[in-house]
Amino acid sequence: MKIVLTGDRPTGRLHLGHYVGSLKRRVEIQEKGASDAIYVMIADAQALTDNADNVDKVRTNIGEVALDYFACGINPLKSTVFIQSQIPELCELSFYYMNLVTVSRLQRNPTVKNEIKLRGFKQSVPVGFFTYPISQAADITAFKANIVPVGEDQLPMIEQTREIVRTFNATYREVLVEPNALLPENETCARLPGIDGSAKMSKSLGNCIYLSDTSNDIAKKVKSMFTDPTHLRLEDAGHTENNPVFIYLGAFAKDEHFKAFLPEYQNFGELKAHYERGGLGDVKVKKLLNDILQAELKPIREKREELAKDMTHIFEILKKGSESAREVAAQTLSEVKTAMGINYFK
Ligand code: TRP
Repeated sequence: MKIVLTGDRPTGRLHLGHYVGSLKRRVEIQEKGASDAIYVMIADAQALTDNADNVDKVRTNIGEVALDYFACGINPLKSTVFIQSQIPELCELSFYYMNLVTVSRLQRNPTVKNEIKLRGFKQSVPVGFFTYPISQAADITAFKANIVPVGEDQLPMIEQTREIVRTFNATYREVLVEPNALLPENETCARLPGIDGSAKMSKSLGNCIYLSDTSNDIAKKVKSMFTDPTHLRLEDAGHTENNPVFIYLGAFAKDEHFKAFLPEYQNFGELKAHYERGGLGDVKVKKLLNDILQAELKPIREKREELAKDMTHIFEILKKGSESAREVAAQTLSEVKTAMGINYFK
């Protein structure tokens, strides 16, 4: 059985980083029919672990993220899209898993460590936030997912889940399934930098291109992109490494794009070589990137606008998805409780 599960926190609209890092991959898996089931979770409960006083933001973004999913091609007839908080079984699983994880193990989780630093929690880390890797293990194992398409920042979560699975299975009985991360196939896609050149696209840094951006927004953002600071005159040799314009082109440019938008080059390799040799200006390269992003994002944006006209329908899909996800999670929980011997009245 191949069971796929992924999720996103609904703290903002999804951006190009989500798209190349994981969303595109999910749609490919879905369209190839390469799995027995696909679950896509809107992780509102996880989002609340550092947004307890900001429920409105999370609630609003559930709809936004669902629109992003469906606009990109997640098809509710083929994938189960659901809302985490509507599956109380996940909390029960988390509660039992908590006994299988030590505080020091959580403190060593590099993703949590980094996020705690980024958020400036210092001594005031919410317990829910600190323990979210355990709840993420519940998300994954409730569906017996063995394939988790994620960006590389999520690897420590998958590792932590695998440990919980091994401990559970060894302590009680072989019930849970060890998941594997499925990373983007090309390294460029694993972590798309922000338009300002910082390591990651992130809403808080204001350096994202969103799937829902207007054509105008995209053009403006591409124009403002950070490039090679040492490439001052046209004839100067340019650097393509750590140059976000070239990193984005690496993630998006296909040979067809050159035919359509810049036929004097056959492919990305030729363009890159010219830039490195000198004699190719940033304006021209940015124009190509803009053409490519406009072509890629236009159908997504148009579909999104169409879908946004009927949010009631979107929430009906999420409700149905949550109901069917809940049945699966309940089955796993029942197996878990039986394995633990806490099914007293059966
Ligand atoms: N932690 C993920 C993120 O921040 C979201 C998430 C929650 C998730 N549960 C998951 C991802 C289960 C994969 C599997 O994006």
